[in-house]
Amino acid sequence: MKDIISKKVQDMQPSGIRQFFDLVLGMKEVISLGVGEPDFVTPWQIREAGIFSLEEGFTSYTSNKGLYKLRLSISRYLKNRYGLEYCPDEEILITVGASEGLDLALRAIINPGDKILIPTPGYVSYGPLTELAGGIPIYINTRDSGFKLTPKLIAEGVEKKTKAIILNYPNNPTGVSYTKKELEELKKVILKHKLLCISDEIYGDLTYDFEHTPFPTLSGAKEHTIYLNGFSKAYAMTGWRVGFACATKEIIAAMTKIHQYTIMCVPITSQMAACEALVSGRKSVEEMKREYKRRREFVLERLNAIGLECRKPQGAFYAFVSVKNTKLKSLEFAKELLKEQKVAVVPGVAFGSEFNDYIRISYASSMENLKEALSRIEIFIK
Ligand SMILES: Cc1ncc(COP(=O)(O)O)c(C=O)c1O
Repeated sequence: MKDIISKKVQDMQPSGIRQFFDLVLGMKEVISLGVGEPDFVTPWQIREAGIFSLEEGFTSYTSNKGLYKLRLSISRYLKNRYGLEYCPDEEILITVGASEGLDLALRAIINPGDKILIPTPGYVSYGPLTELAGGIPIYINTRDSGFKLTPKLIAEGVEKKTKAIILNYPNNPTGVSYTKKELEELKKVILKHKLLCISDEIYGDLTYDFEHTPFPTLSGAKEHTIYLNGFSKAYAMTGWRVGFACATKEIIAAMTKIHQYTIMCVPITSQMAACEALVSGRKSVEEMKREYKRRREFVLERLNAIGLECRKPQGAFYAFVSVKNTKLKSLEFAKELLKEQKVAVVPGVAFGSEFNDYIRISYASSMENLKEALSRIEIFIK
């Protein structure tokens, strides 16, 4: 039986987040600050567009690259908002969330043994997807630089077969982001070493303290970037599964080859809803962002009062909290907290083995839940 499953998959560790949340399933009265998705439902006009498209009988496949109308809207949106120009015909691909974009990007560029730089703590799928594509993840620990990449850290990580770096800002799980000036510095070293930058900017719209700068807007960076984004987080559309990738026509053509054999196209209903999101959804994005910002302030204030250390997140909806003082390892902390106070958080070890003294709290949960959960955490700590 053992031989049926490929060696690569056998060696793969199940997601630390999933493993832990299997424990949560079935428990009653748990407040979960674990999942990485908005607590809001998709704004009504977007849902209505999806429903209406079904009523109108739009039930077919679309072009492999996605509805032209959606690609055009994305292209116009990026141009108007950031001055970023991508041709809707050749340089944009609609994907099943940023997740598929990430998988396609890695599979399209990796030759066996190529190395990919991955900053940690980082999103759980970067390493496993790199390995599935035949690459070797090279992790860059950002603990000593405030969870931020620096030009020096990148340069130190580069080896002969290093092909690309995955950037993610605002970051999951730390909420750390970069100003344009900081990105310029990172860009210099990335270009110097001729690396491709896979820039996962799924939380770009949820940046609180300064303007978000997409990596390809930096001078000279566009040709060397695969820009990934999507509708899941900012528009509260996780279940619709719509994302997009923008890159040179060669890269998008390569990604489309894989996409056409595996996925064919993103469901048309979701694509129609995404078109509406870009028309009427922006107001809701701003409203949700204001609410996340309010929650961020509250969570930070409470964590401070409890005596748990946390750097101020600049974006996304996560707080990465040090539990070092409790002397508990992250999984132990999360399990005990769940057992004693029925609050679910994600153990930091899920985001990199060196982060066993952290937990991730998601503040994409109602203020009422956050208040109660933090009171319970306070009791637990005491
Ligand atoms: C950093 C990051 N990238 C990508 C994704 C995947 O998002 P999507 O729903 O667009 O596939 C997530 C989801 O949690 C994420 O946190």
